[in-house]
Amino acid sequence: MPSYAVIGASRGIGIEYVRQMASRSDTVVFAVVRNPERSTHLNTSAAGLKNVHIIPGDVVDYNSLEYKVNSLGPIHAMTAFLPLLRTSDTEKIVVIGSGAGDPSSSRVLYLPHMVAYAVTKAAALLATTKFAVNLQDEGFVVITLSPGMVDCSATAGADSEALADSLKELSASVNKNTGLEVMPQTPEESVAGQLKVIDGLELSHNGLFLQHTGGEYHSRS
Ligand SMILES: NC(=O)c1ccc[n+]([C@@H]2O[C@H](COP(=O)([O-])OP(=O)(O)OC[C@H]3O[C@@H](n4cnc5c(N)ncnc54)[C@H](OP(=O)(O)O)[C@@H]3O)[C@@H](O)[C@H]2O)c1
Repeated sequence: MPSYAVIGASRGIGIEYVRQMASRSDTVVFAVVRNPERSTHLNTSAAGLKNVHIIPGDVVDYNSLEYKVNSLGPIHAMTAFLPLLRTSDTEKIVVIGSGAGDPSSSRVLYLPHMVAYAVTKAAALLATTKFAVNLQDEGFVVITLSPGMVDCSATAGADSEALADSLKELSASVNKNTGLEVMPQTPEESVAGQLKVIDGLELSHNGLFLQHTGGEYHSRS
């Protein structure tokens, strides 16, 4: 039976992964969250679903800087799940990356801002690539996957309005500076695309930075 572990499953893209994977027949989903009681959106979505197991887990173990969550979080999560994954027939690890971590995006989309976030995602991309190379001989497929721009304001609680506004500002800024249209998608759209990519992963994809629409990430260059 395929089993999936979603780290950071309480809201945003993570909760949508739980929803879509739980709707597949014959699957088990382990939803790893920092605070099960306070994960109200997840609790509502998972109510009555016998194939969803909510498990407490914090990738940095203490309240932390964004750097530690984004950069060290994937390393800690991959390390923690490795023994379990080694016992499985299909060994796939997917780290949700961001175009922000790719230098060409900053140039092509004209993104001088979000410097700290971009640096953390670049670090995670490199760390994930190192894991991929390290685990290659064991038959693992380890990738970084860009979800595109996703409007997660519906599960952002008190930050909801500010998040929706910042996405609109980002789209408008990219459009003004480059003429490109970069519109946020819903979590449903993005995760459906991401799962298609994950389902189709082959050994030859190991170590790549892929995008949710398929193929290697590119910044519209
Ligand atoms: N949304 C986008 O447009 C977009 C674009 C490119 C890349 N991404 C990437 O996609 C991923 C998810 O983004 P999102 O927009 O869905 O974010 P989000 O809505 O802010 O959700 C973040 C999730 O991470 C969890 N989390 C935070 N710190 C954690 C920790 N120390 N240990 C375990 N879980 C922790 C949060 O749990 P709590 O509820 O406990 O805080 C929450 O479930 C991120 O890696 C982001 O960089 C997003």
